[in-house]
Amino acid sequence: MRRIDIFDTTLRDGEQSAGINLNTVEKLEIARQLEKLGVAVIEAGFPASSPGDFEAVQRIANTVKNSTVTGLARAMKKDIDISWEALRGGEQPHIHVFLATSPIHMEYKLKKTPDEVVDIAVDAVKYAKQFFPLVQWSAEDAFRSEPEFLVRIINKVIAAGATTINIPDTVGYATPQEYGALFKYLKENVTGVEKVKLSAHCHDDLGMAVANSIAAVENGADQVECTINGIGERAGNASLEEIAVAMHIRKDFYNMDTGINLQEIKRSSQLVSRLTGVVIQPNKAVVGKNAFAHESGIHQDGMLKNRQTYEIITPELIGETDMPLALGKHSGRHAFKDRAVSMGFELSDKQLNEAFDDFKKLADRKKEITEDDLFVLFTGQQLSDTDTPIYELHNVQVQYGTSNIPTATVTATVPSGETVTVATTGSGSVESIFNALELVIKGEVLILDYRVTSIGKGRDALGEAVVNLSYNGLELKGRDVAQDVLEASAKAYLNAINRQLVRERLRTQELIK
Ligand code: KIV
Ligand code: ZN
Repeated sequence: MRRIDIFDTTLRDGEQSAGINLNTVEKLEIARQLEKLGVAVIEAGFPASSPGDFEAVQRIANTVKNSTVTGLARAMKKDIDISWEALRGGEQPHIHVFLATSPIHMEYKLKKTPDEVVDIAVDAVKYAKQFFPLVQWSAEDAFRSEPEFLVRIINKVIAAGATTINIPDTVGYATPQEYGALFKYLKENVTGVEKVKLSAHCHDDLGMAVANSIAAVENGADQVECTINGIGERAGNASLEEIAVAMHIRKDFYNMDTGINLQEIKRSSQLVSRLTGVVIQPNKAVVGKNAFAHESGIHQDGMLKNRQTYEIITPELIGETDMPLALGKHSGRHAFKDRAVSMGFELSDKQLNEAFDDFKKLADRKKEITEDDLFVLFTGQQLSDTDTPIYELHNVQVQYGTSNIPTATVTATVPSGETVTVATTGSGSVESIFNALELVIKGEVLILDYRVTSIGKGRDALGEAVVNLSYNGLELKGRDVAQDVLEASAKAYLNAINRQLVRERLRTQELIK
C-alpha cells in the first residue's frame, strides 16, 4: 500500500479561523493528542506572528517526539530566524515557507513581478536550508496560478533545497478533476519532482476539500494537509477524520495507508471541539453525533437483522465505545485513576486528587457519571495549570419568575484581590448575569454569540456554555462547563475576559524581561 502522510494544521490554519483562540497549554494538549493520533507532521503555529504563537510552537517542538513539528513562515529572513529559534529543539526541524504565485496575489497583494517572486522564493528556501534539514515551500493560491509559472518556480525552489512542495487551493475554488490534473501535470513536468514530497492543501469553500485532497493523492500527492473537524479559514480545511476514514474504509479502491491510529479519532475530535468551542454539526461525517444514529424504522429493522445493511463504518473503529459504567458514587480512587489512564490521560497525583474531589461532588448531584462527564473532568485537570484566573466567580444567584424582572447577584474576586458582590436586572436570567458581570469587570462588553449545549445525554447532563464577546473592542471567546447552565454561562463569560487579561499579563512580563 502507498503511504500518504497526514500533515495536520489544526493549530495553524485551524486556529487562524474566526473566533478561535487557544492558549499555550491548550495547544500543547492538542499537539500531544495529534501525536497519539499518528499524524506525520504537526503544524504548530506561525512563530513570527506573535509571542504567544512562538511560545506554543517552541513548547510543542520540544515536547513532541513521534511527529515532525513545523511552523509557518513568510518568505523573509526575519520569519525564518524566529522560526528556527522556535523549532530548533525539535526531533527533525521542519519549516513551512510560503509565497503567493497567482497573478492576482502577485500583482495586488505582493506588488511584485513574477521574476521578483521567483527570486524571493529561492532566496528564502536557500536561507531556510542553512538551518532546517526539512524545508516545505508552499505556492499560496497555487490552484489559480499559471501552471507554467508553477513549474518554473518549483524547479527553482527544489534546486534551492526544498524537500516538500505544497500546492494549496487557498480559496477553495478547485474541482476534484482539475486539482487532480494539476498534480498530474506537475508530476510530469517538474524537474526533480521524484526527490520531493508533493503536498495537497485544500479549503472547503465549495464543499470539495476532502474530494480534492483525495483527487490529489490519486494523481501523485504524497501528503495531505488537513485539520481535525475540518476547522480553518472561512469554510475550513479538509477534514482529517474524513480523509483517514475514507482511505481506510475504501482501501480496496485506494490501496493507500495514512498511518492514522483511527481509534484516536473520536477523542481528537472531542478535544478540539471542546477547546476551540467550535461545535461539530450533528450530521458531520465520521464524528457528528448522528453519524452512527439510525432513525427510520426501515433502517432500524435492517440494523437489527444485520448491521451491515446500513452501516459502513462502526463507531468502534474511531474509538467511540459505549464503555460500561464502572464509576459511581461509591467508586474508589484506584478505579478512578485506572479509568483516567484507560481514557488516555496522564495526570499528576495532585491533578488526579482534584479530579477525584470534583467527581465525588458531581456524583452527589448526578445519577450517572458518563464517559463524557469524565472526559470533561479529566481534560479540565489536564489544563489546570493554565494561568490562574484574574476574575474568579464565587457565587451566582438568579431570581426569576415569568412575571418578575430577572435579577442576578454575582460575587467574584477582582484583580486587586478584593471580593465584590453586585446585583442587577436584565430582560432574562442570562442577560441579568451578563449585566452583573459587566459591573464586576467595569469594561464595555458586547455579546456577539452565546451557545449552551448539553454534554452527553439525560436531563441531569452537564451544560457547556460558549460566549463570544467583544471586550473594549477586542473579540474574545470563552467557555466553561457546569451542572447548571447559568453557572456555566457566567463562568464562560469570565473565561473570555480572563484569557485576554492573562495574555496581556504575559506580554507585559515578556517586555519587563
Ligand atoms: O491556504 C493556504 O494557502 C495556506 C498556506 C499558508 C499554505 O494556508
Ligand atoms: Zn490554508
